[in-house]
Amino acid sequence: ADHPHLLSARRDELDVTSPKDGCSPSGQCGCCTVIVDGKARVACQTSMDKADGTSILTLEGFTDEERDRFAAAFAAHGALQCGFCTPGILVRAKALLDKKGSELTRDEAARHLGGHLCRCTGYVKILDAVESLAHDEVPVTIQPGGVGSRGVKYEAAELALGDRGYVDDIRVPGMLHAAVHLAAHARAEVLAIDAAAAEAGPGVVRVFTGADVPGTLKVGLIHKDWPVFIPVGGRTSYRGDVLAFVVAEDRETARRAAALVEVDYGVLRPITDPVAALDDPDDAVWGLAGNRLSTSAYRRGEADAALAASTHVVHEVFQTARIEHAFLEPESTLAMPFAGDDGVRRMHVWSGGQGGWDDRNQICDVIGLGVEGRDRVTVELVSNGGAFGGKEDLSNQAQTALAAWLLDSPVPCTISREERLNVHTTRH
Ligand code: FES
Repeated sequence: ADHPHLLSARRDELDVTSPKDGCSPSGQCGCCTVIVDGKARVACQTSMDKADGTSILTLEGFTDEERDRFAAAFAAHGALQCGFCTPGILVRAKALLDKKGSELTRDEAARHLGGHLCRCTGYVKILDAVESLAHDEVPVTIQPGGVGSRGVKYEAAELALGDRGYVDDIRVPGMLHAAVHLAAHARAEVLAIDAAAAEAGPGVVRVFTGADVPGTLKVGLIHKDWPVFIPVGGRTSYRGDVLAFVVAEDRETARRAAALVEVDYGVLRPITDPVAALDDPDDAVWGLAGNRLSTSAYRRGEADAALAASTHVVHEVFQTARIEHAFLEPESTLAMPFAGDDGVRRMHVWSGGQGGWDDRNQICDVIGLGVEGRDRVTVELVSNGGAFGGKEDLSNQAQTALAAWLLDSPVPCTISREERLNVHTTRH
């Protein structure tokens, strides 16, 4: 079919899921590396024209012996954690070993691994594994024998080979696909949303906006201050706000249609400096009065007396940096409604998040099931491709669950790297 690149053809049409999508189409992370005519190539940067007529090898096509040996080397050396980057690195290692064999040096391998980002493990153990493969000295993998014993990581081999699916690797019958339309302005009144052009396209099933939310609009683990949609009459607070959620028959159609949603904005001055915002007369976040989130005071003992008796008193202002967690797997959710044995409509949600109960409770609030309906939704946390605390909040779970629930169809949504850098609020 018509695909933007080889990775999309492999994953979305052929269901070959060992090449992972960490940043398509930018080619920065290396997670989707495949071997094209004997050379390691990033699939999201390989056009269908370039791929035409070539021989393409992924981990699925390694011999059984190769698969066992590569997986054992990475498992035995502890050369993976979340595993999202690992299949791409295994493919790169094979291309290098096929070319150099036992002559492959650690330095050479390190240079080539520059095309692969690993956020969890670092590169030392990965190079240990590649070196042991080059010298045919793969250590024996030892399964943990109980509490306190040493052994390989749970599911290490499956993760290394890309066989242990992440949310975006799960396929269920009748699955549609969804994409987000994000705010074009960091701070703007939303005057109107016109989804007619988006909905008119072939293959587009439906466009959801804030007007479709039957329950609560805002979520949040501590403060419920994060709208899952900015509705007409609302105001954006950052470029990651969701204005519309487009469901279509396939991922590309959903993404193309999401770009066609038209929003009429009353653009306002963005508030971008948190310190200056404290004295700003305007509210930075829609629906919150004032720009101070909280004031925290800590006191131990007789502080005033101790300070008064001190030779020196130092007063300082401390600021922390904004830190992007930069997990390799973008946020991903799959929601599937079904009729329970008791005839009651229920929903199973595969979430790449970090708190199944929090995800479930917030989803129920948004889709209108509330506290009473919580037993109708099950959230299954799928071990994700890195999170580091950054997937505790909802990302796209509520919108995906809402679309699935209202359409009574399975709906997955994985946001792109570019979208997630806008959506994610960074470390607190
Ligand atoms: Fe490399 Fe997680 S193990 S990104």
